Amino acid sequence: MIGKGGCPEQASAKICMRVLVITGAGVSAESGISTFRGKDGYWRNLDPTKLATPEAFARDPNLVWNWYCERRQRIRKAQPNPAHQAIANLALQADEFLLVTQNVDDLHLRAGLPPEKMVQIHGDIFMTRCSRCEFRRYEHEQEQDGASLPKCPDCGALMRPGVVWFGEQLDLRKIGEVENFVTGGDCDLVIVAGTSALFGYIIDWALRARGQAGQLIEVNPEETSLSQFATRSFREPAGVALPRVVDELLSNGSA
Ligand code: APR
Repeated sequence: MIGKGGCPEQASAKICMRVLVITGAGVSAESGISTFRGKDGYWRNLDPTKLATPEAFARDPNLVWNWYCERRQRIRKAQPNPAHQAIANLALQADEFLLVTQNVDDLHLRAGLPPEKMVQIHGDIFMTRCSRCEFRRYEHEQEQDGASLPKCPDCGALMRPGVVWFGEQLDLRKIGEVENFVTGGDCDLVIVAGTSALFGYIIDWALRARGQAGQLIEVNPEETSLSQFATRSFREPAGVALPRVVDELLSNGSA
């Protein structure tokens, strides 16, 4: 599997495999970013219907906006962990690769993962967009705590976080990118790490990508609805298991 003479798609690749990686909040947990449903997860103490729905934003836009400001500040202070680094390394070494992340943080990118090899299916917390027109912008600047809710410079409507809220459609262009990869040939390896895999499309993409013969590796300290389909499960933190999995791939071409 290791391409001595280089791999079919990429001469420079060291792992001649077609790889899909799917991640969730658990991958950023070791960077100090809360998960949603794990221990101390956001949804254990906070009500998602009060913070992550269009209705919540309509009801109390400042409450919602400030919660996302807090989360952006926390993410800016966080650093990618060995799980992010291992996935970035795999992205650079694998012949064909795509990361589908449910995470809205930028830790995969900051770990060096090429942006063209990633789809943030639930959006990007640093992107804000107008709640009415097509205006979007990237929130580079450190926000002033309690900064008031900005208005759209184009139409004057409220700006909102550029993430997908409960009850909202996924971005069709992003679904298209994932479908292109999933239907573009069976994967030799699918890794699903740090997600409770609650959404049907996550399980569907993982199983379709794996096809008949591919491997499906799950990395999660806890069982999930995907565990029954896994060919190997690592009941360990992603920051511990993923560097080992990727080292194994680099040393003998298969996990
Ligand atoms: N390493 C690997 N997995 C971990 C770790 C860790 N260090 N810590 C926790 N986990 C696992 C938990 O066991 C849990 O199964 O990560 C999973 C996190 O699950 P959720 O909190 O449900 O997060 P996620 O699956 O990403 O949620 C999906 O739901 O709330 C919405 O839009 C939000 O993108 C999010 C989506």
